[in-house]
Amino acid sequence: MIIRTLASSYGRVGAQGLFRESLLALCLISLAACGSSESVVPAVEDQPTMPAEGSNVGQIDEPTEGANTADSIETPTSDITTSRVLSPLPNPPLTAAPADDSEPIRALGPLSTVSEFFLVRNPTRILEDTYGTLTDADFDAGPLPAVISTPAHVDPTTNSAPYFDNLTDVEVFAGEELHVRFRPLDADGGIPGLFPAAIPAGARYDDNFDGTRSLIWRPLQPHIGIREFTITATDPVEPFYRTERTIRIKVKPPADPSDIINLPPVVNQIREHTLRVNDPVVVYIKVDDPNGTIPSLEILNQPAGATLVPHYAFPRISILRFVPRVTGAVSLNLLARDADDPTLTSSRVVTFEVLDEADFIRPGARLRELAAARDLLIGYASLLGFYERPDGAVYADIAAEEFNFVSTENSLKWDLLNPLPGQYQWAQADNLVQHAKARRQAVHGHTLIWHRQLPGWIKRSAFADRETHMREFIDRILTRYGKDVPVWDVVNEALEEDGTFRHSIWFEAMGANFIDTAFRQARLSAPEATLLYNDYDISFAGPKADGMVALMQSLKDAGTPVDGVGFQMHLDADFDRFAEVAETFQQVANLDLDIYISELDVSIRAGQNEAQQARVYEQVLSLCLNQPRCKAYQIWGFTDMYSWRREYNPLIFDRRYQPKPAYRALQRRLAEN
Ligand code: XIL
Repeated sequence: MIIRTLASSYGRVGAQGLFRESLLALCLISLAACGSSESVVPAVEDQPTMPAEGSNVGQIDEPTEGANTADSIETPTSDITTSRVLSPLPNPPLTAAPADDSEPIRALGPLSTVSEFFLVRNPTRILEDTYGTLTDADFDAGPLPAVISTPAHVDPTTNSAPYFDNLTDVEVFAGEELHVRFRPLDADGGIPGLFPAAIPAGARYDDNFDGTRSLIWRPLQPHIGIREFTITATDPVEPFYRTERTIRIKVKPPADPSDIINLPPVVNQIREHTLRVNDPVVVYIKVDDPNGTIPSLEILNQPAGATLVPHYAFPRISILRFVPRVTGAVSLNLLARDADDPTLTSSRVVTFEVLDEADFIRPGARLRELAAARDLLIGYASLLGFYERPDGAVYADIAAEEFNFVSTENSLKWDLLNPLPGQYQWAQADNLVQHAKARRQAVHGHTLIWHRQLPGWIKRSAFADRETHMREFIDRILTRYGKDVPVWDVVNEALEEDGTFRHSIWFEAMGANFIDTAFRQARLSAPEATLLYNDYDISFAGPKADGMVALMQSLKDAGTPVDGVGFQMHLDADFDRFAEVAETFQQVANLDLDIYISELDVSIRAGQNEAQQARVYEQVLSLCLNQPRCKAYQIWGFTDMYSWRREYNPLIFDRRYQPKPAYRALQRRLAEN
């Protein structure tokens, strides 16, 4: 394994506000990227799904995180030490263990669309993750220095880095419009490229067509405080030769608050769902106001027998519950009314389609029956809080009928489970595990150690503490779920596309040994569990697959307790490198490791079709059936209604829960010899 040399991958040790802004941006593009906020408001559907461009879409590089600057950064090592014995975990622990007061409580009231078990919810709303909030003292300390990333092959004495003309921190009153012009320059001539890290909600980033760009933003009441805006200039000749500047924007309350324009409230976007007649339906309806007040919600045509109650924790959310008794369309006319000016309103119409029970019946045998006969686990990733979606009942039924294995798509991610030190939110994962038990599905625990969907306090933790944080987290999760969850992704995505180690917060603190340590801790905490290394783009030939095989070999040599490899396999419908996948599977099998297809989905991109998609699903299934070490064939969801790549309809049921050609192909292939 080679250590990446590109200095920019370490980058500057990020300013704190940058992280918050970017996290916000991540929240905006991905429903579940912000586990903690979604965990408590799971069913509100205002966030568009993740955009997808390449096979590793969604692996959006987070900005360089706020590693603790006080730490001395040692060169991480890519060697895995052999035969290590873990020291005992500290007593008392480094962060408080989960306490009784984080135990979920029975969810009463109009929450559930499932009837197999009693739902639980978290007892309290966990406080906002305020790690990284900037203060006046930060602002007064003056502008942050530029951060220059110089690729190894660039000589800064002959090519000077781009820079910004006249960039300063700025102050603005809430309600006023802010204009900041960015002029990138280069002493060697040419006009540097420019790109911003994240743009505040409601702001514009305009091209002035003279080599400059402007940030134009009218902050409102909720923006009062200090935030950062980061922009990067790229060298006209060497695009990876970059200068990053972060400015701070201080938004102050105006002397007269009525100076701030009062904007109309909005009804949060609600998706149009297909429902099954006679199922209980819950709809979470959120109203928002750009000025930060809480609008009221009116439903102008509430369905017969419907109830509308406030959410137990979120004043902006109301829960509508009803049972559609006839098939056809159900439309809701929703109106949000401003808290300060009742004449200021906005409305939205949402229409649900109600189908008959018979419309959801699939001909032929169920996938799980066919798979069980072949001793194969067939799985799906379970939507976070599926039981709080309008179509939760039909979702749960089809999933339980078709699959004997279920992955925790987002419900075990660290930011959701443990957003603040010592504070745990178990309800989503508890519900998923209970539901799986009731429906006789085995659970695939995803994922213990990853570089994404982490809480701020972990990203900012001191290097010296990270190993203990990691081990305590693994131990606490496995202590709770280890007996109910037989398979775990212990380490996720530790490799870069080129097969070298990703410079994650774990690698930067511990070097490659973090992988070994994580597996050893997992084995200690859940001795019976199957422990996997999981990654994307490792199934077909190339440097990343080679890197994965080399990593598995080195783990084996070191005596690391790894039992198998999870192949994510987020593919496109024109994928045809099946022979290479068979070869990689065999290499892994030769290392005496199991193979889990862990996150399969097949996007239909421009020019591709459902028949091609079906073929890819079927071919991958054949590869698994032909490889004795392949234990599971798991899809990253099952209905196109809910997919992280929803716009590419990558799953085996359509958005109306109708089986697609891919479903029938799997049925057929599973029944064959
Ligand atoms: C994705 C989820 O599907 C999304 O809902 C979430 O917003 C981001 O994470 N590799 C992984 C999974 O290991 O955890 C990712 O899941 C998809 C890529």
